[in-house]
Amino acid sequence: MPKLYMLTEHSPFMMSFVYITDKDNAVIIDGGNPEDMPHLYEIIGNRKISAWVLTHPHPDHISGFISEIEKGFIIDRIEKVYYNFPSEEFCVASEPERDICDFNRLLPLFADKCVIAEPGLKVDIDEITIDFMFCGGERYHLPKPNLAVNESSIAFKVTAPNSRSVMFLGDLGPCGGRDLLKECGDKLKSDIVQMAHHGHSGVTEEVYKAIAPKACLWCAPEWLWEEEDTEIEPELWGTKHQRKWMYNMGVTEHYVTKDGTQLIPLKED
Ligand SMILES: [Fe+2]
Repeated sequence: MPKLYMLTEHSPFMMSFVYITDKDNAVIIDGGNPEDMPHLYEIIGNRKISAWVLTHPHPDHISGFISEIEKGFIIDRIEKVYYNFPSEEFCVASEPERDICDFNRLLPLFADKCVIAEPGLKVDIDEITIDFMFCGGERYHLPKPNLAVNESSIAFKVTAPNSRSVMFLGDLGPCGGRDLLKECGDKLKSDIVQMAHHGHSGVTEEVYKAIAPKACLWCAPEWLWEEEDTEIEPELWGTKHQRKWMYNMGVTEHYVTKDGTQLIPLKED
């Protein structure tokens, strides 16, 4: 059975997960900011990185990856990089963040390892399977900064024999969540869910009802965990409100990055 670590922040907020397979290889999901890299190395040690999965091109998800690629040392340790980003033009038109430009500038250094995570792609890495189900891509042209790139996230499920399944939603918001439900509704049910967009201003309650998780993973430092119970913008809910959704669904098992790096129990009940 694989091990799944949810890594705590060494930057204001970020998302970083590591699977260690039974053959002792690492699979990284996002990784966070450059300040989060030393802790990521503590978790992965000298293991081979069989896959580095990037959910969407925002700095709190990929700037650590970019910083390590720029330094160069890690490239030989990475087997594959899975992502499905919108174009540079789309991102630049949506917001001031420019991480996509850095990613594309460095791409020639690792282009031979890249796999576009198209919906429908299933990848086996040792005993785990990553089922890439959805990509928001460029379909949401939204007027608010950052939202369009959040909505470009990929969503995927990770499974392994005799192990609890985990649905990863990246930073998907209400638009992507609705299409995910429409396109993959019957496949979403999972034992554990990574709460979209750090547990606030993410997908709507219906998506979590379809996933029907027993446990939730919150990439939320204290200030975000305590975010007020309000609708910040139409359909964008604060963390305390989303916490209520999950409690009302009967979910009592919660893992929050504010409490430190955690080994998520994957053993089936
Ligand atoms: Fe994020």
